[in-house]
Amino acid sequence: MNTKLDLADIQGNILRGYRRDLVRHLILEVTDRAAARRFLGSAVDGGSDTVPAITPGELWDIKPPFCFNIGITYEGLRALGTPPEHLKTFPTEFAQGMTMRAMKLGDFGDSAPEKWPAPFDRPDRVHLIASIHSDIADQLDMVEQQVAEAFTVLGVRNGRNLPEGKVFFGYVDGISQPRFEQVYDPEQEGVDEPIDPLGTALLGYPTKQDGVLFRVPTPHALGFNGSFNAFRILAQDAAGFEAYLDQAADALMEHPKREQLVDPNNLDLIGKGLDMHGALREVVAAQMCGRWRNGIPYELSPDAQWPEQEVSLTNFDYTHVSRCPAGSHLRRGNPRGGPIVQRIANYTRRLVRRGMSYGPDFDPQNPDTEERGLLGSFIGANIGAQFEAVMCDWINLGLQDPRITGANDPLLGANTPETSWFDMSLPDGESIRLHGFPRLINTRGGAYTFLPSLTAIKYLSELSD
Ligand code: HEM
Repeated sequence: MNTKLDLADIQGNILRGYRRDLVRHLILEVTDRAAARRFLGSAVDGGSDTVPAITPGELWDIKPPFCFNIGITYEGLRALGTPPEHLKTFPTEFAQGMTMRAMKLGDFGDSAPEKWPAPFDRPDRVHLIASIHSDIADQLDMVEQQVAEAFTVLGVRNGRNLPEGKVFFGYVDGISQPRFEQVYDPEQEGVDEPIDPLGTALLGYPTKQDGVLFRVPTPHALGFNGSFNAFRILAQDAAGFEAYLDQAADALMEHPKREQLVDPNNLDLIGKGLDMHGALREVVAAQMCGRWRNGIPYELSPDAQWPEQEVSLTNFDYTHVSRCPAGSHLRRGNPRGGPIVQRIANYTRRLVRRGMSYGPDFDPQNPDTEERGLLGSFIGANIGAQFEAVMCDWINLGLQDPRITGANDPLLGANTPETSWFDMSLPDGESIRLHGFPRLINTRGGAYTFLPSLTAIKYLSELSD
């Protein structure tokens, strides 16, 4: 098996982030197969005046004005003319598509695919998602026009980075990110996440689990060096989140152990100018996520959002006596080396997360209910064993730790105020149970896409009928 990495053959957004200010995702249908194939052929051959080049994974000397990448759904592979004997070598969950996996993902109620706005209400027509990253809005328009010459543009989703790398709930995001063998990313200088084997994110390489190689679709030219993406449009109820923090802080104000959470003589450690109620709100936010809103890991600094000593953002682990709650979003998404029921799963479900926010600014002093949220890409070599396993077993069911089984992720879970709960941790080892979490994040669209290698894009462009 060839395990030497050729970055020139891999789409650039898989193994490293572009760190651009803007993204535009084009949701595309193949209505003229020949035109679509010609476009892909030219895009993979370095582009032209009328076709953008696919951005590969090599590092660049000069930052290009835009980056261009594609993901193809199962229906898209079919629409491009992939022969049935090759289509059937793709994993079931990808072939079924995101909408058919709704129950596993918690996409019911207001998140149900039946409620998704166009174009995601017609998953059979969603064939490709082309993503353009740039710092310049004109570049997005230019590339969109070029793409529209070859495909039918069913929909457009625009995203942008919020100031200070934050998401709408006010947390800094994009801190934890897997690092990979054989990959040097200057943007990850100083990041001390454990190194993952390439097979976590790329098809055809060894994985963390001895002897497990995720199935590579055939022919080799199509599957090898590819990856999969769960593209999700996740609306965040920012006003609901802030209101919940108020509600939880109100309850904690009456709690006899509240001073274990916040030292009344050191409120500045939580945030300058905060009173007890304001500080308790921040502690609730920090325990729900596993990081303070400024990004400091709760595990390393449970008593201070602004610790006096420098604290690593990425180098930490969980134990039986961790201060970071087992039910926090961070621990559910990646329990690291900490104790979980299925010990063999530690570090096998690491997801590459790329995302930008969409929708208008949010002012917590002046809350509104406009739709806003995250355009998220959750990338890995096997959707079933990684993204779906994280979403279902860990985020929604809490199967990794009997102390949280039966409760949902407080940030991301399909919660209802009547049944939801979350245990806040205290320094004495006891906990305080919070109730009444509403569903704060709803799905508003998405698709499972295959992120083909450059060889595979060429292969697809050369298919004949
Ligand atoms: C709007 C939706 C979401 C919001 C607001 C959100 C927020 C956050 C924040 C603030 C962090 C901490 C920053 C960091 O460590 O980089 C984080 C980490 C993380 N989230 Fe989410 N998230 C969302 C959706 C998801 C989804 C759908 C998943 C998928 C399964 C997920 C999985 C993770 C993982 C794996 C981590 C890193 C954990 C670690 O490695 O320590 N998140 N998220």
